[in-house]
Amino acid sequence: MSKILVTGGTGYIGSHTVVELFNAGYTPVIVDNLSNSNIQILDQIEKIIGIKPEFHEFDLCDESKTKAFILNNPDISGIIHFAASKAVGESVADPLKYYYNNFFSLINLLNGYRETPINFVFSSSCTVYGEPDTLPVTEFAPVKKATSPYGNTKQIAEEILQETASAYGNYNIIALRYFNPVGAHATALLGELPNGVPQNLLPFITQTAIGKREKLTVFGNDYDTPDGSCIRDYIHVVDLAKAHVAAIKLLEKGNPNGNYDVFNIGTGQGNSVIEAITAFEKASGQKLNYEFGPRRDGDVIKVYGDVTKSAKELNWKAELGIDEMMASSWKWEKYLKENPIG
Ligand code: NAD
Ligand code: WQD
Repeated sequence: MSKILVTGGTGYIGSHTVVELFNAGYTPVIVDNLSNSNIQILDQIEKIIGIKPEFHEFDLCDESKTKAFILNNPDISGIIHFAASKAVGESVADPLKYYYNNFFSLINLLNGYRETPINFVFSSSCTVYGEPDTLPVTEFAPVKKATSPYGNTKQIAEEILQETASAYGNYNIIALRYFNPVGAHATALLGELPNGVPQNLLPFITQTAIGKREKLTVFGNDYDTPDGSCIRDYIHVVDLAKAHVAAIKLLEKGNPNGNYDVFNIGTGQGNSVIEAITAFEKASGQKLNYEFGPRRDGDVIKVYGDVTKSAKELNWKAELGIDEMMASSWKWEKYLKENPIG
């Protein structure tokens, strides 16, 4: 079956996607520079699928190494491009790192396929919508001025891809706009591995519950929402991984919408921070130590996706709910306590 290049494949979403590609009969090939992941993830993947996936360690910002890889691997029929820097706060402090890494890796990849037809799935983000004017937000909603250099790299990358698809004709591209990926593989052998103090909600919840953090601070409970806390569309990482397999299949079949398309990847449901905490306490069977603190700069109040287009045209729908997101996150955190990775 088709060989699919998974850039960033030892990362959080990439590693889960490698598993789902294998389960769907594809041969995943990972390229990763391990700048935000650990080589042990290959062993974890092997424990799940029974084989160690092909792995190449190099920086996609290195033009010659990227070109050499592409020339030496002519049987790659599709690419899922996860590799990027993704921490919003860090991008504000160090924008050049983000513009360099996220653009040079993308452009080197695209340039390597200038003469060859290629199917290309890109990791985008609901962050491109900013604070939507209407909810749920559809793919036709206007892209708003990015509130961070990270978000700007996603918006500009989408423009690069759209213009590349229309200019050259040999690129067939789908951008997936993820909402909030959370959760872990059901085996608890794969999950999120945040570097240092977690910026995202779920790893902070689970690290607080396991005693690594003293308490969770809820950033604001005075928003214009039913319980005063922000609302997000949390999506299970395994559902998200399966959306990438669906995107590759659509590209292989031929996307009737043309050679550039965008899909929202969420559940279509919004949950507040307090609802997420309550769901975690139910799933873990233990109370979470949290307090309310000041709002966090740049936070969107409410965002959740209209996923009608993904259901109809991508033939994909999220299947796992917030309870499984919380239960799998907690199982993974307990696994890490006994089996540290990195
Ligand atoms: P991650 O950091 O776990 O995975 C990214 C992987 O890419 C890491 O393994 C890292 O080592 C690798 N990498 C980074 N730069 C590279 C380079 N120049 N060359 C080779 N490898 C490189 O992140 P993730 O959460 O799995 O996110 C994957 C993608 O999804 C990213 O593009 C991110 O922007 C996007 N995304 C993530 C979220 C989220 O909340 N996690 C939401 C929306 C979009
Ligand atoms: C979720 C909610 C916080 C931590 C970010 C990026 C986005 C994407 C996903 C890459 C918010 C609240 C959080 C905490 C809290 N990443 N929170 N206490 O901000 O929706 O999205 O990650 O593409 O681009 O912006 O996710 O998990 O940081 O926050 O109260 O310690 O949890 O205020 O309401 P966010 P998050």
